[in-house]
Amino acid sequence: MVLSCIAQDNVHYYDFVLRESNFTRLCSTKSMLTVNDSFPGPVIRVNKGDRVYVNVHNQGYYGVTIHWHGVKQPRNPWSDGPEYITQCPIEPGSNFTYEVIFSREEGTLWWHAHSDWTRATVHGAIVVYPAAGTTYPFPEPDGEEVLVLASWFEGDVYQLVQEALQTASETPQSDAYTINGQPGDFCSCSNGSTYRRLVDHGKTYILRVVNAVMNAELFFAIAQHNLTVVGMDGAYIKPIATSYIMISPGQSMDILVTANQSLGHYYMAARQYDNVDQNDNYDKINATAILQYRGNYTPPSSPSFPTNLPSYEDFSAATNFTQSLRSLANEEYPIDVPINITTRMYVTAVMNAIVYPNNLSNLASSLNNVSWANPTTDILLAYYRNMSGFYTTDFPDWPPAFFNFTGEDVESNVITSKGTKVKVVNYNEAVEIVFQGTTVYNAPEDHPMHLHGYSFYVVGMGYGNFDNETDPKGFNLVDPPELNTISIPKKGWLAVRFIANNPGVWFWHCHLDKHLSWGMETVFIVKNGDTPETSIRDPPTYLPPCRDSFDSGLQEFDDSAGKMHKLDKN
Ligand code: C2O
Ligand code: CU
Repeated sequence: MVLSCIAQDNVHYYDFVLRESNFTRLCSTKSMLTVNDSFPGPVIRVNKGDRVYVNVHNQGYYGVTIHWHGVKQPRNPWSDGPEYITQCPIEPGSNFTYEVIFSREEGTLWWHAHSDWTRATVHGAIVVYPAAGTTYPFPEPDGEEVLVLASWFEGDVYQLVQEALQTASETPQSDAYTINGQPGDFCSCSNGSTYRRLVDHGKTYILRVVNAVMNAELFFAIAQHNLTVVGMDGAYIKPIATSYIMISPGQSMDILVTANQSLGHYYMAARQYDNVDQNDNYDKINATAILQYRGNYTPPSSPSFPTNLPSYEDFSAATNFTQSLRSLANEEYPIDVPINITTRMYVTAVMNAIVYPNNLSNLASSLNNVSWANPTTDILLAYYRNMSGFYTTDFPDWPPAFFNFTGEDVESNVITSKGTKVKVVNYNEAVEIVFQGTTVYNAPEDHPMHLHGYSFYVVGMGYGNFDNETDPKGFNLVDPPELNTISIPKKGWLAVRFIANNPGVWFWHCHLDKHLSWGMETVFIVKNGDTPETSIRDPPTYLPPCRDSFDSGLQEFDDSAGKMHKLDKN
């Protein structure tokens, strides 16, 4: 089947056919699940405010769902996608049509599978152009390039993850990173297929960069070319002139680059930003693509490599970049930061262990010491139909114990327990969440937190433990960036705010899939307002049916017996 996109009155139709096909990378061939046989998958292109119907046909071997990352889907959680949160999987041999409703987003977003780790191979970019009759807040670029950064695993990701979870072992590590599906010149058997982009001297291009990597933040740079970051997560920002970026999984950026260097070939390169203490065991591949000038010239024997690409563990390069993000916040692009907060949460992101009644233990992750367990019927349906027994509404607003979260001497063996606990929020509440990173288990690390159904304002971040008296004084309420994903800095905290004006069931989670598998996620149920216009829309006539979870062995254990370990206060 070919990809069809017929534009009519700002409504677009796509067919996504999920099926296994063969791909060869790093000298070996494997069969993997993709959309329309492409890796990365097809780009969806719309104008601001459009609507897209995507019919997903599952011709693979296991159930899958698709999420439209960063698309707010006003009042329409039915098409948001996360499995067991807003729908049950689209089973092999069946199909489901998503109605993707764009509203305020403009710039670059993306879509990906939201079932286990299937997004490793099932993802693609979404480009949102300005609405008809409007334009960019910068001179119109001469050309565009979509760059999707992803992970490559030599084995079958689905199987590897199932095995890892069932045997309580480390989740798989990627064998390479890729740029538009290719690892590039520095990887074995790869230099014949390195991704190339031809450019004309003197022209300015908009790069639309998506980090679709499974478990790592990345640095990215182009040899000898300056970058101007002008947008992020589907909103424009104050331009940042820089020689590199740091991009977290889930984030997307719009970057202007002018081809103003001498005619030649230049590497565009990405590598992992590793922020895990005492861990030298990570994917050190330098993924590359080539920016190649058109014209008659003899290029040097090999392209130049970006000297400004920070080294793997360059903590200050990463934080300097992240801290430079500001929203445009002008008359044409106003912002609306909540000031009078009505719902406050303080949420610890913790790496844990979990012990089951039979004494088996496993790695786990948690938010406020609750490690998420998927229900067998999705939360949205259970909520909408008032079905009890699938979740509880007691997700805690603060951690069960206070201690020096970022101390060096934090008790290393912290036990969590599983639960399907959601947080219920009234329509139009002004929500503030302060996320607190921890050194528990000796595993401080960045956690890219992502919220579905919303963007939030990042009003503050800092190191150490959040101080609720002094730290809010430093909040940026003037021009905070409006994002859908941002990392809790390692050994630090992050403060975000938003107005809960999108009724629905919205997932929020760490966008490192291993932490997602281990439970670092929960759900907001945002209640309806008083009018039909402020209430969840009616469900579509067909929804994929739910059946008993055939998930990992984890689900077989009842969590109620798990005991919360008491933490020292110090
Ligand atoms: Cu990129 Cu829950 O999503
Ligand atoms: Cu995480």
